[in-house]
Amino acid sequence: MNQAAHIPVMLEEVLEGLAVRPGGCYADGTFGRGGHARAILDRLGGDGRLLVMDRDPAAVDSARRQWGRDPRVVIRHGSFRRMGEEVRRLGWLGRVDGILLDLGVSSPQLEDPARGFSFREEGPLDMRMDPTAGESAARWLARAGEDEIARVLKEYGEERHARRIARAIVAARRERPIETTRQLAAVVAAANPSREPGRDPATRSFQAIRIFINGELEELKAALPEMLDLLRPGGRLVVISFHSLEDRIIKRFIREQSRGDRHPPDLPVTHVHLQPRLRPVGRARRPRPEEVARNPRARSAVLRVAEKL
Ligand SMILES: C[S@@+](CC[C@H](N)C(=O)[O-])C[C@H]1O[C@@H](n2cnc3c(N)ncnc32)[C@H](O)[C@@H]1O
Repeated sequence: MNQAAHIPVMLEEVLEGLAVRPGGCYADGTFGRGGHARAILDRLGGDGRLLVMDRDPAAVDSARRQWGRDPRVVIRHGSFRRMGEEVRRLGWLGRVDGILLDLGVSSPQLEDPARGFSFREEGPLDMRMDPTAGESAARWLARAGEDEIARVLKEYGEERHARRIARAIVAARRERPIETTRQLAAVVAAANPSREPGRDPATRSFQAIRIFINGELEELKAALPEMLDLLRPGGRLVVISFHSLEDRIIKRFIREQSRGDRHPPDLPVTHVHLQPRLRPVGRARRPRPEEVARNPRARSAVLRVAEKL
């Protein structure tokens, strides 16, 4: 397994969306293995700046190995929710030209059995993007009630058989704690009557538990409004999501910020009074078929770009 491998998704579209200027100041909140960051850096001159963040210490180590000595690059461990703090500390507030979020998990995370994200390989049931913080999937599954497990599977995995699977998990853990990925996958598969073509019966449950354990939707909801303050007028926000729940959050955020403040419908307000803060740049984009053929991970990607007014 090549630990360094992560093919950046929709790279051309990201670069077009960010419209990188050589002397600009950019932030990549989801460094991963730096596929997008590398392409941004290639377009930055000596005066350009790039802040890279990731909540996964392994990603941050990779960033340090690649660009620890590059004076243009600032590397921070942590959630992109804390990007505002870092940007303020750097004195870049209101001056950032572009922010990139490429959400979800990276290939190295998925492919390393020790991280516990994959039901295909046996490994400890962890699933934390940041293993130094929070609760592992195994610990949560050991203590959560059936209702809570069912809610997570339904809400984040859109799993039709959430209740049956949750019941099976609770029954199985009475016999033996569920501590490994294969163990969980077997319990889920046995309880799940549906067979979706080309999809393992544990796919939805694993995805749901991962989203929940990492608070992925909450992180995104909290981070987006903050990011608006960081950008300069004309600065770009580029977000790639891989899940309809994430895309809905981004779409709504851009729509609301493009409309501006809400006023009672009978007040005579003009566009100026509404103070919109963003302008969508084009429509949502999906990867081209050639890209999906080359990199199946791109299949569910949706990219949205907005510009600060
Ligand atoms: C899809 S990968 C990014 C790949 C990267 N663009 C590349 O080309 O190599 C997503 C990365 O974002 C990180 N991540 C996800 N949610 C995060 C959050 N809230 N804050 C910081 N990093 C996050 C994950 O740890 C993972 O490394």
